[in-house]
Amino acid sequence: MGLIKRFLFALTCAVVTGSCLAGCSSSPKPILGDVGEVTLSKGINLSALEDKNKPSSYLNKEETYTNIASKGFDHIRLPVDFRNYANDEGEVKKSFYRRLDKIINLANNAGLAVMLDFHGWYDLNVSKGDAKLFLDIWKDVAEHYKDYSNLLLFELINEPHTTEGGDLNMSTLTALQTAAIENIREISPERTVVVATAEWNGPWTLKNFNLTEFDNIIVAVHSYEPMDFTHQGFAWMETEDVKLELTDEMIEELDKQLKLIVDFTNRTGMKVVLNEFGLNTGGHISDEDMHRYLSHITAFAEENGIAWTYWEYNAGFGVFEPDHLGSAKGEWRENVLDALLNPTDSE
Ligand code: BGC
Repeated sequence: MGLIKRFLFALTCAVVTGSCLAGCSSSPKPILGDVGEVTLSKGINLSALEDKNKPSSYLNKEETYTNIASKGFDHIRLPVDFRNYANDEGEVKKSFYRRLDKIINLANNAGLAVMLDFHGWYDLNVSKGDAKLFLDIWKDVAEHYKDYSNLLLFELINEPHTTEGGDLNMSTLTALQTAAIENIREISPERTVVVATAEWNGPWTLKNFNLTEFDNIIVAVHSYEPMDFTHQGFAWMETEDVKLELTDEMIEELDKQLKLIVDFTNRTGMKVVLNEFGLNTGGHISDEDMHRYLSHITAFAEENGIAWTYWEYNAGFGVFEPDHLGSAKGEWRENVLDALLNPTDSE
């Protein structure tokens, strides 16, 4: 997945136009404020349940959520690959719901909203009949959580695309997400739903985004621009030997993507969340570059009223370093945390 994603980002960013940020910082505008009854601004992705091999016991610990809330974060995003826990009829196992209920309640009780994200179905192919299972799972999830408060949000799909066997372009994606929203709203009319843009939640596809007829919707985009910089030093990306310092040109590339979000919200008035961005925090990139890159994004988001969710809590991009894999105990990476929470400059 990583290499294809990396290639696509590079390819797409090469054709994105527009580099000027003039005007973006001069007119702060709340994009995500109250959504339903919930205010969203700063959050963290808790990666684990999208991959059966990832350590996940930290998700069961109250300390994880109180730790996050104590720093001023207001939401978490919980990636889950529901296919690992559902049967062919889309019924999610009771035992998994028991676990998920506990996680959502722990987060909500700590004051954190939860974006429940159906993550990882990268070869979802509508023309091969996958839509039925996808929609059935969401109906089952909506039914199970219909009495939960607005502190629970549903995010329909993560990083849809047309490679890796998937066939979700903007048109098939719009049809799929429309059907899912209609089904969910029949069961749970007030539920806030987070929808994806095409091409891996690419901000560059916002210009073609056409799912505009529903209320209480948030559009999710991701940006790891430039991928070469943010994803350096990982074996899974085959970038162990890459050593890149952050340059002004890289910041300009990043700004092109961030500006697309502001253009879109100005044009449509829709709410957008940047619910994945981040970089390798494991020591490969200098503290100074990490801080500059991340605080550039969070300063821009603050100036323009954009909500964000950092990828991720405690693994390769982690803002928190656990004592050991899966542990709820550990220490914040203060440099990363400071860049996220105390942005000083988006220039
Ligand atoms: C993927 C992760 C990956 C992250 C950054 C997420 O969408 O699920 O596996 O580490 O993006 O590339």
